[in-house]
Amino acid sequence: MKITVFGAGYVGLVTGACLAEMGNHVMCVDVEPHRIDMLRQGQVPIYESGLDVLIQRNAAGRRLQFTLDAEAAVAHGTLQIIAVGTPPEEDGSADLQHMLAVARTIGQHMTDYKVVVDKSTVPVGTADKVRAAIAEQLAARGTPMSYAVVSNPEFLKEGAAIEDFMKPDRIVIGSDDDRATLLMRALYSPFMRNSDRLVVMDVRSAEFTKYAANAMLATRISFMNELAHLADAVGADIEWVRKGIGSDPRIGTHFLYPGTGYGGSCFPKDVKALIRTGRDNGVPLRVLDAVEAANGAQKQVLVQRVVQRFGEDLRGRAFALWGLAFKPDTDDMREAPSRVVVEELTRRGARVQAYDPVAMPQAQRLLSHVEGFTTVPSAQAALEGADALLIVTEWREFRTPDFEHIKATLRRPLVLDGRNLYEPELMQAMGLEYVGIGRGV
Ligand code: NAD
Ligand code: UGA
Repeated sequence: MKITVFGAGYVGLVTGACLAEMGNHVMCVDVEPHRIDMLRQGQVPIYESGLDVLIQRNAAGRRLQFTLDAEAAVAHGTLQIIAVGTPPEEDGSADLQHMLAVARTIGQHMTDYKVVVDKSTVPVGTADKVRAAIAEQLAARGTPMSYAVVSNPEFLKEGAAIEDFMKPDRIVIGSDDDRATLLMRALYSPFMRNSDRLVVMDVRSAEFTKYAANAMLATRISFMNELAHLADAVGADIEWVRKGIGSDPRIGTHFLYPGTGYGGSCFPKDVKALIRTGRDNGVPLRVLDAVEAANGAQKQVLVQRVVQRFGEDLRGRAFALWGLAFKPDTDDMREAPSRVVVEELTRRGARVQAYDPVAMPQAQRLLSHVEGFTTVPSAQAALEGADALLIVTEWREFRTPDFEHIKATLRRPLVLDGRNLYEPELMQAMGLEYVGIGRGV
């Protein structure tokens, strides 16, 4: 099939590369010249494991092209997949300006039947707006033409994006156009393995499904974070509790890990947007309000632990920080808990010496204005002259560190672990003062 993908970001690139891998001819279009230049030279502007190889292979096979030319891109694909950003507005609602700009572009340039696929995360009713924006352009041109707008939300996780796209739990299609539904079924048939995981529904339900999924996952995390605080207060260990409840198949084992709060470009913005949709429709989402508030507080948990031990005035103090990305296996720092930790500690006068395996260039860009923040070339270097070690992201390379070295290097052998990487008993045996999340210590 011939496919156009608008947006060469996390979702657009993974979608484009995976669809090209299945033999489709994909043209990815973006508005950022630098991004397209890099991609044309075989460089990938984001860190996502395996994406470079997939892009290079399919670009070499001429199944994957990159362009700034929106007119050529519209001409290329029968399927026009929109994967542009939908960042939060001040009031929490999703900003649809990029979506609607693409819709207008399609309406301006299309010359035959198109299936417009909303893959970005967008509020219920957006497909209607996209349809109307295209109709307006066609009317202005005086050239009526048939087209369909379908919703096809994306459920991939950063860090495992290719695996998630290639082996999806489910594909959700919201469509009220039979021809478009058949084309979407054909598009995804190579990804279905032995069972049909394609769920076809009406457009509004598909749009809603995406927010419901992210809100449900965010709720589990915030709930576990609150249970972890209670575990600390009553002397229970949340790690045992997690195993104890997760073995119930009605609860399940995934997304029950307490930590320093959820971050990333999706949960925070999508929770806010769903709360906004609730408000706009006179349906207060009280549980989700609490999820959002609990997460805001959770991002402060390591800071509070530092303040409890060192006081509000942190001048003259230095802290080692391991992990800047919002989760492992990505360089993405959007809404990362590390940013709150860095800003709050340096605001109190501390120095923060941070290390992350891949996100340091991002951190230098985003946190260069923060006085007292530095990045260092290794996890060990971060410990030099530090009063304590703070762990924010659970990168694999932090899982079995040299505990003797940590103890010998820190000024005070204190480890504040925001991801429960280590066993408290082991840390005690190694002579380290250890505080996890909800470990009852
Ligand atoms: P991103 O910021 O990484 O990429 C968006 C790209 O769109 C940018 O490169 C931008 O330059 C480009 N763009 C903006 N306007 C354009 C236009 N008019 N024409 C062509 N390109 C344009 O965003 P992302 O993380 O890929 O997210 C995209 C959407 O997918 C969002 O709605 C997000 O919520 C959703 N989503 C993201 C993930 C994820 O893990 N990142 C997962 C599922 C869904
Ligand atoms: C999330 C969803 O998992 C994807 O299904 C969805 O497609 C995506 O949002 C999106 O809509 O963009 P992502 O943000 O890439 O994916 O990463 P997650 O693995 O979900 O982690 C999100 C945050 O929750 C991270 O900060 C992570 O540390 C935190 N988290 C996750 C926990 O604190 N505990 C857990 O048990 C799981």
